[in-house]
Amino acid sequence: MASLWDNEGREYIDCGASFGVANLGHANPEIADAIGAQARELVHVGPTFGTAAKARFIEKLLGVSPPNLRRAFLSNSGAEAVEAAIKFARASTKRKKIVAAMRGFHGRTMGALSATWRRDFREPFEPLVPGFEHVPFNDAAALERAVDADTAAVILECVQGEGGVYVADPEYLPAARQICDRTGALLVIDEVQTGMGRTGRLFAIERWGVQPDILTLAKALAGGVPIGATLTTEAVESGFQGSHNSTFGGNPLACAAGSAALDFVVRERLWEHAEALGQEALDRLRGMASPVVREVRGLGLMLGIGLKDKTTKYLQARVIAIGGGSNVIRLLPPLVIRRDQWRAALDAMERVLAHG
Ligand SMILES: Cc1ncc(COP(=O)(O)O)c(C=O)c1O
Repeated sequence: MASLWDNEGREYIDCGASFGVANLGHANPEIADAIGAQARELVHVGPTFGTAAKARFIEKLLGVSPPNLRRAFLSNSGAEAVEAAIKFARASTKRKKIVAAMRGFHGRTMGALSATWRRDFREPFEPLVPGFEHVPFNDAAALERAVDADTAAVILECVQGEGGVYVADPEYLPAARQICDRTGALLVIDEVQTGMGRTGRLFAIERWGVQPDILTLAKALAGGVPIGATLTTEAVESGFQGSHNSTFGGNPLACAAGSAALDFVVRERLWEHAEALGQEALDRLRGMASPVVREVRGLGLMLGIGLKDKTTKYLQARVIAIGGGSNVIRLLPPLVIRRDQWRAALDAMERVLAHG
């Protein structure tokens, strides 16, 4: 369901999916049933014990992930998935430097925040973790200059979400792969926001034909239940020395919800719906006459409307949208949104954007 109601019973079309979490909508009965059944059996045991729920989920997840990724570490959020990626990269390569992109967002814990670009997110908490460097996004030459024999990893998003919905150029991620191969750095692709069908593929990276060494997932992965996943190659794991763990990571409740969410996405091929509705929206929004719209960008149901103005006054229709960067309206509806609902949301967006 892509509708939400406020405390006075007014209905809203959700085009934010709670920051890209509710890909399967709200109160999805298959997720609710899976949570209920698992809760009656076993809610939690610590990560030293394997459970059937965890084994099932990891098998399903690796079954649909890029084929070189054979190991999964489970945690509870996107930031934790990124923290694990940074730690695994440093421990496995025995190198220190991490290269990230300007406008990139990777979370708000100290390591993930060090990879995040925005100054106002970072400054109050400095000093951050040393060894991070930022280069302009979509500039392969700048990446090449920054990555060297001390670089543990390059971390990139396929579509920068929080940064304002900027899509990687077709040649950028293949170039990043080559730069990493040449220098021995690992390529970390952060799909916390783009994963699980959002961009018109199950994983956005499929569009670039690139295999990352590490892939991070969270948000929609368990149908709304907190989870994070850091997928790696066997080579990364075998180079890893040290220990990393999480008390709640891989708990049976989240894993049962994760299995139900994956089954749902794959059975319904939700990425195809995202691709079709996203393309329709891009065509329509790009053709719209508006004095305030500067540019419309996106992939699948991850859309950004860049404005010449602040976004706040345009976020008031009965459509829940979210900001991205300072002047970008971000549309991330549940992937189960009906076509008529999506068209109604676009009608409302067009109405508010028709006047400056
Ligand atoms: C690409 C990306 N990475 C990491 C994160 C952090 O995820 P969380 O808020 O679950 O810690 C986000 C959150 O928006 C994200 O978009």
